[in-house]
Amino acid sequence: MSASLFDMKELDAKVRYGNLVQEILKHDKAYYSKDAPEISDASYDKLRRELEKIELAHPEFITPDSPTQTVGAVPSKGFKKVRHALPMLSLSNVFSEDDVQDFLDRIRRFLGMSKNESVELLAEPKIDGLSCSLRYENRKLVMAATRGDGAEGEDITLNVKTIKDIPHELPENISDILEVRGEIYMGHAEFDALNKAQEEAGKPLFANPRNAAAGSVRQLDVSVTKARPLHFYAYGLGEHEPFSTTQFDTIQILKKLGFQITKGIRVFDSLKDIMENYEQVLEGRSSLGYDIDGVVYKVNDLKLQTRLGYVSRAPRWATAHKFPAEQAVTKIKDIDIQVGRTGALTPVARLEPITVGGVVVSNATLHNKDEIERKGVRIGDMVVVQRAGDVIPQVVRVLKEKRDGNEQIFIFPERCPACDSLAIREGDDVVMRCTGGLVCPAQAVERLKHFVSRLAFDIEGLGSKIIEQFYEEGLIKSPSDIFKLEEKNKVLELPIRKREGWGDLSESNLFKSINEKRKIELNRFIYALGIRQVGEATAKRLAATYGNFNALKQNIIKAQDCNSDSYEELLNIEDIGSVIADDLIGFFAEDHNLEILAELDNQLEIKEYQAPDMVNSSIVGKILVFTGTLEKMSRQEAKAKAESLGAKVSGSVSKKTDLVIAGQDAGSKLKKAKSLGVEVLSEEEWIALYE
Ligand code: IVH
Repeated sequence: MSASLFDMKELDAKVRYGNLVQEILKHDKAYYSKDAPEISDASYDKLRRELEKIELAHPEFITPDSPTQTVGAVPSKGFKKVRHALPMLSLSNVFSEDDVQDFLDRIRRFLGMSKNESVELLAEPKIDGLSCSLRYENRKLVMAATRGDGAEGEDITLNVKTIKDIPHELPENISDILEVRGEIYMGHAEFDALNKAQEEAGKPLFANPRNAAAGSVRQLDVSVTKARPLHFYAYGLGEHEPFSTTQFDTIQILKKLGFQITKGIRVFDSLKDIMENYEQVLEGRSSLGYDIDGVVYKVNDLKLQTRLGYVSRAPRWATAHKFPAEQAVTKIKDIDIQVGRTGALTPVARLEPITVGGVVVSNATLHNKDEIERKGVRIGDMVVVQRAGDVIPQVVRVLKEKRDGNEQIFIFPERCPACDSLAIREGDDVVMRCTGGLVCPAQAVERLKHFVSRLAFDIEGLGSKIIEQFYEEGLIKSPSDIFKLEEKNKVLELPIRKREGWGDLSESNLFKSINEKRKIELNRFIYALGIRQVGEATAKRLAATYGNFNALKQNIIKAQDCNSDSYEELLNIEDIGSVIADDLIGFFAEDHNLEILAELDNQLEIKEYQAPDMVNSSIVGKILVFTGTLEKMSRQEAKAKAESLGAKVSGSVSKKTDLVIAGQDAGSKLKKAKSLGVEVLSEEEWIALYE
């Protein structure tokens, strides 16, 4: 009896929920798109409050179109963009003792140290918040910025000045320019109190303390930030004059200057101690009063940090040892196939929504066909899902004991669900790929999404949903259509602003953000093309090698002849082997791609590559070859140094080589350099070039 009563209640709640969603969406449209609200603010707030209450009690009801999932996001417009004097890096992750060992081995190898030489690591808990850079000039706080894409963030100075932990003026001048980097976060008790107050005031609730902190900082109305209980702790530096020799001392000095630092900072030099500390921090996690999601390790010696430098966007000298992923049990309602930008067919489990570590999860990846078979996943199965940090949620295992016989085996399709082309596996690749290439609409849409994504053109306002909508309506079919949108809009039967959900303002904002991107850096442009296996780092290397887009295109076209110098030059680029070379050559051999490039050329200005950090360097743009054994550094360190000075490193000597650096026992390459009359430097002379 009571069970059926309960079911009734739940059913009622679900029906009410559906009605509320529809009703609120209707009022949103009336208010935002038509500027003609049909109810008072107070009545509207009441509906929202009721919706949020149901969502809190039944997170499994939440649909992607719920107003809490769409509206209410803080507009990012209104904050000024600022370039960071030094990039704000992110961290690589490790998950196990073996990973930590690998991290240490990589450091030793890079520095040319022997296997048993000890490396001192500083360990500090990793608080889960949002990173912020504070710039002090002559002791005064002049700028606070979010991380953004690492190179450019948003100016949040006024908001940050309301945070009590952040000094406006430093007691001592240890560096005329001092950039302090750290994390803004909110504690558990404060988060609970805030959500309670939000609920009472009929405002949206935050999913977790990190979202609450981020939402509180990025407020155009500073008084809102001020009312929020935010904290800041310092973990490092941006631009500054050197004033210490270790990471540990740096942090202690920051503490003396008035900054909070994390509790539990320690220095270790053995893997055993590092792991013991990790276990301790993990155990003490729940009694801290704020969220931490791992332990960060940093090489303590700052000189070594400088030598190690960074790859792509993460330092070689630091990593985050993440806590185990959080898990939960839920049901697989269905399995869909997603078609990626390069045609990969990825099975995705549609789940009964479930909260995993503070976030509602309704999809999880099943990776590929083999993985479904290996795990024995069926539609209708109860499964364990896990979510670690920002990684896509995964299905860990099936609870076979919970089966009732109604589960269905999933048949992996042999054809692409989007274009019906045959799907095949190439060689021993585990991935099934659609062979539709250019005719496949799903691939086209994914390529467009990639084209406008953050590390590519970074066009604000052109999110995934809008790309899908515009593609379907035929407004954007190929990348150049994006730049013709404004022009086209004038002759459209149905102008963009008349479409559902669009106002005059969002339309003009969109055109503005598109027009801002008509001038683009070469490496971003290369990355945007979405050539298979050409990620951010490879795109940068290609940009550095060829300097401008035309040279890149011509040389890769010439490289179709694998006996050409161009082919050799391509293979000489760090990290480019014959497989990536084939993908690049294949891309430029495709007429359709050349047409797209020609059309883009009419719309865009692709800037020439500008090497970073090249002040005072005499080797900008030069082609270097290292040969023989270097004594003071590993080959990897030498290459990284050369690249940071704006040079290109090649693996073989040719008439294009500018400089050969010959270590001990150099052989044939040195001989060849001499016969071609290429300048040769010893290791000492090479070091003297930059020290
Ligand atoms: S160091 C140069 N230390 O984690 C290394 N980051 O996952 C850059 N974070 O963007 C970061 N606690 O926002 C560092 N003790 C800590 C940290 C920390 C939290 C955040 C930071 C960074 C992100 C990378």
